[in-house]
Amino acid sequence: MSARLAHRFFLAALLVTGALTMSPVSAQQGTPSLKRGEALLTRNCARCHAIGTAGRSPHPAAPPFRTLARKYPIDGLQEALGEGLSVGHPDMPEFVFEPDDIASILAYLKSIQER
Ligand code: HEC
Repeated sequence: MSARLAHRFFLAALLVTGALTMSPVSAQQGTPSLKRGEALLTRNCARCHAIGTAGRSPHPAAPPFRTLARKYPIDGLQEALGEGLSVGHPDMPEFVFEPDDIASILAYLKSIQER
């Protein structure tokens, strides 16, 4: 799959799961850990995305994670993270996370969203 197609697929998955599956993540998975979520995002995403409550993304085109909820329900990311997250841009590896890790990532993302 080309990077661009992968990106499209990723966005489509986000929108579809956001619209159809509103079930709370915490009901399905182990206890999420904000610290673990933050650590995972630091390791995998922070070289491009701002992952905290302030600051700019190192990659100018990468949206700061605290702004993601403006575009997508955060729970909509659940499936994308589990099935393979690939956002089409140079150098972006594909990420696949375990369910417990996803719960932690989502919990962390929710905790930093701007209102
Ligand atoms: C190599 C740099 C890089 C890494 C690493 C990276 N991203 Fe991204 N990400 C980007 C860029 C650039 C965009 C904007 C892409 C676009 O709009 O075409 C983006 C967009 C996104 C989007 C929003 C897509 C949109 O259009 O709104 C999400 C969600 C996302 N990334 C999640 C992640 C997650 C989660 C990780 C870590 C597991 C991660 N990214 C790692 C560079 C990166």
